[in-house]
Amino acid sequence: MHLDALPTPAAVVDLDVLEANVARQKERAASLGVALRPHVKTHKCVEIARMQRDAGARGITVSTLAEARAFADAGFDDITWAFPLIPSRLSEVRELASRVRLGVTVDSKEAVEALASTGDAFHVWLEVDCGDHRAGVDPEGDLGLAVAQELHDSAELRFEGVLTHAGHAYACRFGQGLGEIAEQERATIVAFADRVRDAGVSVERVSVGSTPTMSAVRDLTGVTEMRPGNYVFHDYTQTVIGSADVADCALTVVATVVSHRPGDGISVCDAGGLALSKEQGPSGVAPTMGRVYDDYGAKTLDEEAMLTSLSQEHGVLRGALAVGTRLRILPNHSCMAAACFDRYHVVRGEEIVAEWPIHRAR
Ligand SMILES: Cc1ncc(COP(=O)(O)O)c(C=O)c1O
Repeated sequence: MHLDALPTPAAVVDLDVLEANVARQKERAASLGVALRPHVKTHKCVEIARMQRDAGARGITVSTLAEARAFADAGFDDITWAFPLIPSRLSEVRELASRVRLGVTVDSKEAVEALASTGDAFHVWLEVDCGDHRAGVDPEGDLGLAVAQELHDSAELRFEGVLTHAGHAYACRFGQGLGEIAEQERATIVAFADRVRDAGVSVERVSVGSTPTMSAVRDLTGVTEMRPGNYVFHDYTQTVIGSADVADCALTVVATVVSHRPGDGISVCDAGGLALSKEQGPSGVAPTMGRVYDDYGAKTLDEEAMLTSLSQEHGVLRGALAVGTRLRILPNHSCMAAACFDRYHVVRGEEIVAEWPIHRAR
């Protein structure tokens, strides 16, 4: 089927760009001397994870137990759940850990105690805050050492290593300061691992990663693996941060103009908040609700027509566009837009060559 015949709104993946992004990250990990454990929450798609595995990924990272289950069912047997343990979901964690090598993540004594209370032999990562101030122990405080010690002393639990995520890299613009944050991410976690070792606890694995920092980092000494996720698709936010160009963006939302009053400067399309998400990028870097390509082949964005507001199903555009006009929209945040759909339409050029399910349940 030709893309023009596809009912809208639809999530469309450009296979050429996706393949190039997967290949580039493989090279990046190899040249930096670390394993690649991609975060699959971006795409939630088994077919894309298989491409990543074929390109050398060793294990995957997930953010939800539903993702973990979907990928375990598809034969992925080495999965890190890089989200603080949810104690009320311990029975699901146990079920998953009984059939795959599941890494769980903690940053508190309470979470360690919840895991230990089961008597099961979980693989446990300790999350460290390298400046994002979201989850993770303070790398200079006492709690991190105490949690590492508890994991080490536990008869059942296995201390897998330390991990961090430099989410604050999303505040960068046009590459400025990105290299410094990438080095801060590395240096913080490596110094923390050394503190833990000095306390007599061995730390074998040290995990870092975000798409912006992995695009800029020059040295990963002391690190054993990277976990970028967004790089498979990139998005408008990554172009503002300076970690990708429009030509590196693989996910578009295809939409149709459904309303335009002659003489008015606005139009309405069928891609609203439930197709694009209402996010202006993880750190609000995007000034609009979504950019429209003026020429997808040339990878140029329209300087006039752009999404100015979204309601549930309506996308309001600046610009006078005739009803029926088809649009390709570059989402602000591809992970959030992808999670609005239950399948990707995969294209080579403008020909749809596959349909891949998206496992978006929680
Ligand atoms: C813990 C963790 N690791 C890795 C990633 C991947 O980062 P990115 O989406 O920038 O590739 C994320 C994304 O939010 C994350 O939360």
